[in-house]
Amino acid sequence: MSTKQCEEWWKRSVVYQIYPRSFLDSDGDGIGDLQGIVSKLDYLHKLGIDVIWLSPIYDSPNDDNGYDIRDYHEIMQEFGTMDDFEYLLEEAHTRGMKIIMDLVVNHTSDEHKWFLESKKSKDQHYRDYYIWRSGENDKEPNNWGSVFGGPAWEYDEQTDEYYLHIFSRKQPDLNWENKNVRDEIYRMMAFWLNKGVDGFRMDVINFISKVPNLPDGIVREGMIYGDGSLYFMNGPRIHEFLKEMNSEVLSKYDTLTVGEMPGASTDDAILYTDPSNNELNMVFTFEHMELDSRSDKWDYQPLHLVDLKKNFEKWQTKLHNIGWNSLYWNNHDQPRIVSRFGNDEAFRIESAKMLATCLHMLQGTPYIYQGEEIGMTNVKFPSIEQYKDLETLNMFKEKQSQGVPVNQIMNSIYVKGRDNARTPMQWDDSKHGGFTEGEPWIEANPRYKEINVEAALFDDHSIFYHYQHLIALRKKYDVITGGNFTLLYEEDPNLFAYRRKSDTEELIVLCNFSEKDLSLRDPLLIEDLKQYRVIVQNYQEVVLAETLTLRPFEGLVFFR
Ligand code: NOJ
Repeated sequence: MSTKQCEEWWKRSVVYQIYPRSFLDSDGDGIGDLQGIVSKLDYLHKLGIDVIWLSPIYDSPNDDNGYDIRDYHEIMQEFGTMDDFEYLLEEAHTRGMKIIMDLVVNHTSDEHKWFLESKKSKDQHYRDYYIWRSGENDKEPNNWGSVFGGPAWEYDEQTDEYYLHIFSRKQPDLNWENKNVRDEIYRMMAFWLNKGVDGFRMDVINFISKVPNLPDGIVREGMIYGDGSLYFMNGPRIHEFLKEMNSEVLSKYDTLTVGEMPGASTDDAILYTDPSNNELNMVFTFEHMELDSRSDKWDYQPLHLVDLKKNFEKWQTKLHNIGWNSLYWNNHDQPRIVSRFGNDEAFRIESAKMLATCLHMLQGTPYIYQGEEIGMTNVKFPSIEQYKDLETLNMFKEKQSQGVPVNQIMNSIYVKGRDNARTPMQWDDSKHGGFTEGEPWIEANPRYKEINVEAALFDDHSIFYHYQHLIALRKKYDVITGGNFTLLYEEDPNLFAYRRKSDTEELIVLCNFSEKDLSLRDPLLIEDLKQYRVIVQNYQEVVLAETLTLRPFEGLVFFR
């Protein structure tokens, strides 16, 4: 690893993602807000994180909770004002924390002024800001399905054409082929960077370049629509656009840039993040989050640990010394990790700590999603009425119309629904977990009585302090940022073990992903481990004898 690679601040940083709507409501309207975030900056500082990623806070009609932007230069009213935002930025900076914004520029809201203009007629300036096509024999221009259900095209009667929306019909895709669109976006990015923001998390940024003739996609078994992803992910001009964005805006500031990139392979990721390509600092990818699904995300299959291990091995080794990746288990689109790969009942604390250990000792920039640091769990609301996410609600309607039994649909929502991540942050054991004094926009997870920040801060052995410790270790030992990676016991179905090594330091990480004791009968390793000391543990005492027995979800890190 060259010295230069260790120098960049974002390589040694830990990012904390805030979903503002669900973080903390300061004014009793049931919706989290910027002042709520300000009041918890000391809490985040205590955790030790370096960067806050704010999910979108711009003006939006909230079809997709802010991922449908109406005005890139205004703050969402429910969240506060531009003054509140500037105050938040200043207060974060005072505490040595940076803030990155969510940059959603694959699409806008259909209420954005560009789209309202674009819709007016075929021959005006803004028409070409979006992707309009005429239909084929009264049908959509191609067979693509939208990510949120139904076709990816919406018919507009006034001009007798369809516009493309890869997400909801209220999220029309921008036409990046048009240089005016790109220039407007670069100007908007500079507006925020000039205010002092420290970078961007770029929403589905590898979708912005589409294959121009938009060919039909393959219709997979059991599907109604074609899969257009081959023609809109990592498209023909994507690298050109990102290089242009970099030279016109990003290169002028010291930023953290992370591209959310569904469908990006390790080879793609290298192209996006190799510093000599001048595109982005890091990617945020999904392969490891798709291992417990079959045909689509709702089609659950149990995780095979060996698949997860091999996937991490591939990313860790291929990007080493060339590119850079994000490390995450959770975000606002994913179910809670302790419910997903751990055990959120009998071993909630042990498994949450083990999962954190396993991830945080890898190479990359770790992301902690609000509530993960206290081991928040998935939620099982009995009625669909209690769910708010449009993806979940659309899926429910679609499956119901196909005759799928309601309990079966609800079970898939319990396992994979995005609202698992979006229930209010649990601050204490008061009503609604201390999130609001009003009625929350989405109900709190009833487990807030037991799982909350106040309780976590009070207990020296809580998950919170485990995360705090992991973050501190990243600052202390270079091997975590720079060392190489070797997977150990590759085929073991329950043990995730790896070695990290630099010229001067070495780590061995042992994680039991099962609910059973796991005996490690490897005399050579056990002898070797005597030269190391334990720097992370999730059970109070560690016994190293002839065999090493890892208890349920035990996670250990040895250092020398
Ligand atoms: C990815 C975001 O993470 C997700 O929440 C959103 O719905 C889509 N992009 C569309 O913006």
